[in-house]
Amino acid sequence: MSQAEASLQGLSCLADYAQRASELLPAATWAYVNAGAADGITQRRNAAAFEQRMLWPRVLRRITEGNTELELFGKRYAHPIFIAPTAFHALAHADAERATAIAAAALQAVYVVSTQASVSLEDVAAAAPSPRWFQLYWQADKDVNLALLRRAEAAGYEAIVMTVDAPIQGNRNAEQRSGFSLPASIKPVNLLPYADKLQTPGVLEAGQSLFQHPLVTQMANWDDVAWLVKQTTLPVLVKGILHPADAQLAVQAGAAGVIVSNHGGRVLDSVPATLEVLPLVVAAVGPHVPVLVDGGIQRGTDVLKALALGAKAVLIGRPVLHGLAVAGATGVAHILHLLRTELESSMVLSGVGSLEDIDSSLLWQGSNT
Ligand SMILES: Cc1cc2nc3c(=O)[nH]c(=O)nc-3n(C[C@H](O)[C@H](O)[C@H](O)COP(=O)(O)O)c2cc1C
Repeated sequence: MSQAEASLQGLSCLADYAQRASELLPAATWAYVNAGAADGITQRRNAAAFEQRMLWPRVLRRITEGNTELELFGKRYAHPIFIAPTAFHALAHADAERATAIAAAALQAVYVVSTQASVSLEDVAAAAPSPRWFQLYWQADKDVNLALLRRAEAAGYEAIVMTVDAPIQGNRNAEQRSGFSLPASIKPVNLLPYADKLQTPGVLEAGQSLFQHPLVTQMANWDDVAWLVKQTTLPVLVKGILHPADAQLAVQAGAAGVIVSNHGGRVLDSVPATLEVLPLVVAAVGPHVPVLVDGGIQRGTDVLKALALGAKAVLIGRPVLHGLAVAGATGVAHILHLLRTELESSMVLSGVGSLEDIDSSLLWQGSNT
């Protein structure tokens, strides 16, 4: 048995990876990677929403040419399990985002690279030819957004994901209690060239109101989404949508798609689970605007439930960091493989052979408790 294989022993599902990663990472890093904001109400609710939904499978159907392929913005993708943007992969493994890119390429997964990556977006692109999208954290200085956009275009990113649910940081108490701080060696390298143009988060002085802080007074708005859409021919998706009315505003601003997300419960605590609001958002934007979803996905059956409620694809955040922490690129590739295999087996056991065949009739319509 190779060393890589030995390191994967006993890891048969994503929860096994979470457990192993929690044992391997320093407690403070684990708190950064895994905790939710405040009391963790939303983080737990994301997971609970999947537990409460039940599948209602059909049997004895013929499946002869099954597959998990999908088409999105004119491109064909092998399966609907994408890698959500998460910051600073160097916290989990020395190979950082390069390892994630290698795994994404091997498993043909779309990798959404964070603005706050610890490896530059060009180096991530050079590491492996995975399908890749770039996630933009809006910066008050428009020139910085434009510079990042042009770099992403030049490096072959196929879509832009503008994250809108975290203009300020969530109340991350678990992380604060743990004493977490970013090691000096790990930096948001994509942003370093513009250091003089960036807002610094800073600390509020006693008596100072958050409403006076430039992060709030210069926060992005819908005009900025429309502006961004006009700067590029790439599809722009808005990530962090929970309200159907906001989904419609995103479409009006020119977004090509929306991502239903509550940032994995890391920002505003006490918001509904993404699975709960997903069907409302899908209904609000209509059948021609792709809706993606993330938050709490752990199982192939979770992916199937999200697709049955109208999601075109799903993204996973924390599990990728767990895979990285346990075994670098091999670990990420393994979690993607596990999840995809689970999706395929739950499709077979539900009597569906393609994503087009998945709809709400696959969900138990009785009591969900
Ligand atoms: C450690 C960590 C860092 C994150 N960093 C970002 C980020 O840089 N940009 C972003 O849009 N979302 C970020 N997110 C949110 C994820 O993209 C995603 O919405 C969330 O993790 C999905 O939930 P899951 O972790 O339960 O799969 C981060 C999440 C985690 C856990």
